[in-house]
Amino acid sequence: MEKILDNLKVYISAEEIRKKVKELGKIITKDYMGEEVTVVGVLKGSVIFLADLIREIKLPLMIDFLELSSYGNEYKSSGVVKIVKDLTHSVENQNVLIVEDIIDSGLTMDYLIANLKTRHPKSIKICSLLFKPSNLSVNLKIDYTGFTIENRFVIGYGLDYKGGYRNLEYIGYLEST
Ligand code: IMP
Ligand code: MG
Repeated sequence: MEKILDNLKVYISAEEIRKKVKELGKIITKDYMGEEVTVVGVLKGSVIFLADLIREIKLPLMIDFLELSSYGNEYKSSGVVKIVKDLTHSVENQNVLIVEDIIDSGLTMDYLIANLKTRHPKSIKICSLLFKPSNLSVNLKIDYTGFTIENRFVIGYGLDYKGGYRNLEYIGYLEST
């Protein structure tokens, strides 16, 4: 694994993330009160966020995962999205809450929403920890956003650099980006 920690700056601290995740959990709990939720995590980037978030959602819920490939390389969306690993269960008639690490161009989420809609859920909402508005190239309504960030390549707390560094407690960025 490439060693990059020396060039890594803390962008969002573990403490800030914890606070935000609690806030999001509270809002989501309130919005879905009386309902059951199916939380759909987009692998692999969302797993850390999802694990923390669902413990702040005080509702009956289930989780499922899918994996998409949208990236030609680590930095730029190719626009080509495909399902590499699909959900295990049907989402028909369920309140689907998609949990994502970051929305950049929005192409991945746009594809996912269109795909999941064909499965006739009761509702679909999006919760993304991070949002980079500068690259957004589709019309997307993000229901729950953790942090709106600058156009930087960020890593940690689930987000990877060449497959690594997902286990950082904080979100950092490379000084060169
Ligand atoms: P989009 O289709 O351009 O919105 O790309 C979304 C996906 O690209 C995310 O789920 C991430 O996996 C990846 N991605 C986008 N920006 C970053 C970043 O700054 N760091 C790590 N992964 C990123
Ligand atoms: Mg991702």
